[in-house]
Amino acid sequence: YTEEELYRPNFHFTPKKGWMNDPNGLFYYNGYYHLFYQHYPDSNVWGPMHWGHAISTDLVTWTEKPIALYPDAKGYIFSGSAVVDLKNTSGFGSLKNPPIVAMFTYHDPVKEKAGAVDIQSQGIAYSLNEGLTWTKYEANPVIKNPNLKDFRDPKMTWDNIHKQWLMVLAAGDSIFFYASKDLKSWELLSDFGKNIGAHGGVWECPDFFPMLIDGSDEYKWVLLVSINPGGPNGGSATQYFIGDFDGKHFTLDTSFSQDLKEKKSLWIDYGRDNYAGVTWSNISEVDGRKLFVGWMSNWNYAQKVPTQKWRSSMTLPRELTLVKEDGHYKVAFQPVRELQNYVSKTIKKETLKITKKTVLIDKSFVDLSKIDIRFNLSNLKNDVYTFSLSNSLGNTIEFGINKKDKFFFIDRKKSGDISFYDDFAKQISKVAFTKDFDKMDVRVVIDKTSIEVFYDNGKTVMTEVFFPKKPMETFSVNKGNFDYNIENLIINQLNFN
Ligand code: FRU
Repeated sequence: YTEEELYRPNFHFTPKKGWMNDPNGLFYYNGYYHLFYQHYPDSNVWGPMHWGHAISTDLVTWTEKPIALYPDAKGYIFSGSAVVDLKNTSGFGSLKNPPIVAMFTYHDPVKEKAGAVDIQSQGIAYSLNEGLTWTKYEANPVIKNPNLKDFRDPKMTWDNIHKQWLMVLAAGDSIFFYASKDLKSWELLSDFGKNIGAHGGVWECPDFFPMLIDGSDEYKWVLLVSINPGGPNGGSATQYFIGDFDGKHFTLDTSFSQDLKEKKSLWIDYGRDNYAGVTWSNISEVDGRKLFVGWMSNWNYAQKVPTQKWRSSMTLPRELTLVKEDGHYKVAFQPVRELQNYVSKTIKKETLKITKKTVLIDKSFVDLSKIDIRFNLSNLKNDVYTFSLSNSLGNTIEFGINKKDKFFFIDRKKSGDISFYDDFAKQISKVAFTKDFDKMDVRVVIDKTSIEVFYDNGKTVMTEVFFPKKPMETFSVNKGNFDYNIENLIINQLNFN
């Protein structure tokens, strides 16, 4: 097998060549979803950061475009965001041709080498041709460094409730909130986060937006905060907070504060490979969905994974919802519905009573390197339910539910090449559950070298990558100590030709 055949995903975005990390500058305009990303085109490890660029009409098939932003004398172009300035508040364009305005962090490597603290500041750039080419603002930086070493990753959004541009950025152990009228001059409003949530590492790549609570016309504000290290299963991961915003200050919802007391932190994904994820701007004019994408890797080993030509891919873009259950708020995720357009074959099985180890599907029916599977489990007891994808070389990736010890898991110990980083698969990844259940719905999307598992309608997600020595060939389930049922099994073969 070539590297491409073995490891290049079928439908997750990867750069043709070179290094990629965080998604940046996500916006929708004129029929296209834009994805920019931290990119070093000259090597397969991190280096002087550029913004790479790709576009899609459906969030599934991506076309890579020329590099959008190059580093310059002021520094590397670190993570940031973009908005469509429909009313031309910035004056960079016109009402007829509204400018796309991006804000990014300038990271000054020269100052850094000299040992300075004030090495990160915020700059803006605009595009008058739908993000294809950009002009950096001559008066950059628009936000100077306030003598803080970590001061980065501005995420802008139009706050339609308080009629202002809003921006959040990560400042070490907290999030700073800013407002603006013209996207050029920014006023610091408040900060949030000291001694709240997880602080096992530095805070990075925030996102902040209001969301309607599913099935109601009330809304709450959601704050996403990535953190590295300190994730629930090691390395980098993204936590979230839910509360209210009065136009200046963010305060936690009381039920969410209660949840934090019990759990310390809540995470949008408990797997090890979903980091620095943020949402698309300018979507509401289309269909009101909240759309998210994350970087499908982990700073612990991102620069060591066994691909050479390129490194890293994005998660599947996901639709985010805010749900309220028994007075508690949670965010939930599902793969974008557009994935359905790529289903080339569907295999359905009604009710399977599982009394022994059972092969659910094998490669004579579907290509297991691109499938979307759903099923419901019922009659669950205090037992361990393990699903596995495996090949004839004995490589296997397992996931499932341990109801004895109350956790969901992914186990990649025997998934293929795990030698490139000591801790890649030493431990299984887990997420504990507190509420008991005897039924559970599961959705799992497989793309060659990644698994994305959505439990409980997407309220608990686990995303991980793996590197098998040949493609996976069978999907099976273990025998429990007690019989149980798999219902409404739907196996969707995906096709991208
Ligand atoms: C997160 C991050 C950001 C920074 C970027 C640099 O992965 O560390 O905080 O802007 O990567 O590439």
